[in-house]
This record gives sequence, C-alpha cells and structure tokens, in this order.
Amino acid sequence: MKTTTDLQRRKLLKYTAIGIAGAVTYPSWTQAAGEFVRVNKPSTDFLPDVEIELAMNTAEVAILKGEKTRVWKITGKVIKGDSGVLDNNEGTYLAPTLRFKKGQKVRLILSNSLPAQSILHWHGLHVPANMDGNPMYAINRGEAFVYEFEILNRAGTYFYHAHTHGVTARQVYSGLAGLLIVSDDQEQALHLPSGDHDVPLVIQDRSFDGQNQLVYSANMMQRMQGFLGDQILVNGRPDFVLPVATRAYRLRLVNGSNSRIYKLAWNDGTPMTVIGVDGGLLEKPEQHAYVMMAPGQRRELWVDFSKLEIGTELTLRSLQFDIDTHSGMGMMGRRGGMMGHGMMGHGHGMMGGMMSASSLTLGSDYPILKIRVSQKEQGDNTLPKTLTPITELHTKNAANTGNPKTIALSMAHMSALLNGRSYKMDDIQPDEIIPVNSLQLIEFDNGFDGGRHGMMMDMPHPMHLHGEQFQIVKREVSSHVTDNYASVSSGLIDSGWQDTVLVMPGEKVTILKPFNDFKGLFMYHCHNLEHEDMGMMRDFLIK
Ligand code: C2O
Ligand code: CU
Ligand code: CU
Repeated sequence: MKTTTDLQRRKLLKYTAIGIAGAVTYPSWTQAAGEFVRVNKPSTDFLPDVEIELAMNTAEVAILKGEKTRVWKITGKVIKGDSGVLDNNEGTYLAPTLRFKKGQKVRLILSNSLPAQSILHWHGLHVPANMDGNPMYAINRGEAFVYEFEILNRAGTYFYHAHTHGVTARQVYSGLAGLLIVSDDQEQALHLPSGDHDVPLVIQDRSFDGQNQLVYSANMMQRMQGFLGDQILVNGRPDFVLPVATRAYRLRLVNGSNSRIYKLAWNDGTPMTVIGVDGGLLEKPEQHAYVMMAPGQRRELWVDFSKLEIGTELTLRSLQFDIDTHSGMGMMGRRGGMMGHGMMGHGHGMMGGMMSASSLTLGSDYPILKIRVSQKEQGDNTLPKTLTPITELHTKNAANTGNPKTIALSMAHMSALLNGRSYKMDDIQPDEIIPVNSLQLIEFDNGFDGGRHGMMMDMPHPMHLHGEQFQIVKREVSSHVTDNYASVSSGLIDSGWQDTVLVMPGEKVTILKPFNDFKGLFMYHCHNLEHEDMGMMRDFLIK
C-alpha cells in the first residue's frame, strides 16, 4: 500500500548516514530565521496562542571540567505568548523546556542548521499525523518545518526528540531532546508543589573521550543491546546535586537515555510515592519500594523533606536487577547452549555483563543523583489522597474484543523485528490499518508463547506508540520466566495513562489504545533507540 506522496519520496532518497556531533567538525552556521526554506506553510486559519522558533544548531557546552563538549543544541525564542513558556536550559545540551496549557494552540517553527537532516517528534502528544514528526518529514540544513497543533493532552510530563530515519539514537544522544510540560485546571486545583518545588529531572547516560567529547559507537553488539554510556547525567550535568528545602516536592523523572533501564529507589529505603506516569497524574498516589524506568518513560514522585535536618543527604540510586528473566531456548536464556549461563560467570547474563561496552553495567547498583537538604521552609506538605480521575477503558468496548492485534517482538542476529518485519517507509500491511475513532486491543508478545528458537535473543523492549495515551490491561508471564523476574516486577507501574510500556523477556502485555481524531501514519516502535534504528519500528495507518 502506497501512502507517501512524491514529495515524501523525494525526501526518502536524500537520507544519508550522518555522524554524531563532533565526528566531523563543521563550521558553525548562522542564518536569520527568515532565510530558511519553509517546507510547509503556516495556515492562515490557525491562530496560535503561543508561537516559538526552535533552531537546531551545533554548539559547545561545558559538561565536564576542562574542554567543552560539542553537542547539537536546540535554542528557542518566543515570538508570541508569555516568555515563561520557554527555558532554553542554557549551558547544557538539553533542548528548551516548553510549558504549555491544555487547550492552547501552539505554532513551533523548527529550523535546521545542523550538518544533517532532522525532525522533531512530540512524544506522548495527541497531534495530527503530519505534525507528529514522522521521519518522512525530515528537513535538511537550511530548511524549516512549521508545526501547528492544539494541546489536547491532559497535564503531564511529555517530551520531544529527534525522530530521523535510522539516526534517531545518535541525534538524541547528541542533544536533540527536551521536555514539554503540560498543565491544566484539574491539576492546578490540586495545589501540588509548584515553581521551584516542581523539578524535572532528565536521566541520561553518556560516554566521553579524553577530550571531553561525546562518544557514540554502534557496533553490532552495542546495537543489539542498545548503547550504554559510562556516566550518568541529570539535566545534562554529571554528579547532579539538587538542593532542597524542608518541604514537599514534585519530582518529574524522565528516562531520556537511549537504551538504559533504571530501577530507581531512595538509598535510605524510604518507599517511593508515585503520583504520575507518562500521561499525567494517577488517580491516587502509589507507594513502591522501587520504580522501573525504561527509555521514553516518565514517572512523577512526590517527596516530603520536611522531617529532615538541614545538611541531610539522600541519594536516588539505580538498584541491581537482572534483565535475563526468561529461560526459553533463546541464546540469552539460561539454557541457551553455548551462550548459556555457564559462560556468564555471575548472574548478570551476557547482555548485562561480558558484552557490555560500558563500565556502568546495565542492572548494576549505582547512584543517579544526590539531594541535599539545605534550607528551612514552611510549606503545605499534605499529599492529596486522590489526584485526577481517570476514565477507565474497557476491553468490551474495543473494536477487536476477543481478537487482539498481536505484535511479536523478536531480536535475532542483525535484526530487531515487529511481527517479523523491519521498518520501511511506505510499507503498510493489512494488519497495520486501523479505523479512525476506534479503540484497539493490542498485545506485545516478547517470547511469552515460548516460540523462541536457536538464534533469538531475549531482551526487554520498551514499546511506544505514537498518538493517544493507552491503558495497560494485563501483564502475563510465561511459565519459563525465572526468579530474576522478581528483581523488576514490583517496580513496573501499569496504572494510569501510558505511552511506553516495558515488556520483559517472557512477558505478554495487553493494552487498550484509542485511535481518535486523526487519520494518517502513526508509528509504533521499541524506544530502545538502537533497536528503533535497527528497524524495530513500524507505522499504523489510521483511516
Ligand atoms: Cu519518543 Cu517515536 O518516540
Ligand atoms: Cu512518541
Ligand atoms: Cu527493543
């Protein structure tokens, strides 16, 4: 089925492999906003409440001591609206933090001064297909793309990032990702901690060379596993310390890493109070000993520091866990023949252990950030018992009740596939066509049915769907799931609205997802960005 136009096909032909920031030194390039060739036009009947220019360029920022690091930086400028809608996060590679209100109409004019094609996607937002940053809309250096959409989402912590064909991982790694925070009246009425007491924390891992430059390697092993950096950065900074006052805070955690999965917990054993997930606040707060966070996911915490003495330090850590949760016959499984446990040494499995190029092993125990109580402050420290109501989706209302759309996740030598298929533009298959305004029952099968053979690898896959947020109906585990599963299971938070769900080896996760309002192409893919770039991505055609 052909879905792209000639214009889009022309773009397809222009895709080229591009290195990361600094791989080649390009002269920095400045161009006045008006000089960019706009590939699409603002519509005359769209009256924006907020208008922002976002410029993508190369830049140098001080991340480590000594030499500056070459990055790809997005810088914004408010053309219309309150200047508070934008914080450029100057001095870091993070893209601007954008703050919108539900119901606002926004126009974002993205210009490209990078030595590569790129396009931005609004992760978690319900926007029209042609505003969603599908890779077919990538713009060249010297071009600009005009986004126009209304904020239809409820309050929540969303984000945006590059979504360029085949190079999403390197572009995000180079800096093309930022936060997009939505507020609404319902949320405001709760009087949760706000202002300085509402802190977004973007967690990422990076590797640097001896000259403080970002290192990104994507050899076959690093693509199969996903790239893992040696160093944790929070909001683009190493050894992150958050000074806090003696009162309650709202912490918005974002896993902006390419592939790293975290198991977050407070070092003193205080349970984590989760108030929000990908698609905003939960119905009521939940307590968890630890919180799993896969790439692309957001988790909001409420934390009360009012009982702590000045000078107290608290560490947010990632605790030990095992991703090797399946003992099927796959090569990563315990009984996987020559690749089996015998060779692994200790319990980390091959993906977390010997094959890892990072000194910071996936699933090992390490600190993420430190909190330092540094000031007395009186505040309202009561956590509301109920947050925002959530309309529960029901399986009986799905268009395909009793006949879920199954998406089989598989990884084998050199390939990462969805239902045995790899990403291709312009390649919609009959089972990928979904009627607009329908509710769909979808299941992600990561070796649940035990149908693994020979060269299959068991890996966790954070599955993300563009468009509207979904609800998780159930999580089933195969009879081949090992004891390792218990090292992650109670941190998987499945309530509320979600856009990215971690599917562990041996699991089948069923979701209900609405496909309302907008026709066109909406992607679904693994948010391990190396897997995505390897082809673990497809489009749904909503019509
Ligand atoms: Cu956050 Cu299609 O991605
Ligand atoms: Cu997305
Ligand atoms: Cu994956």
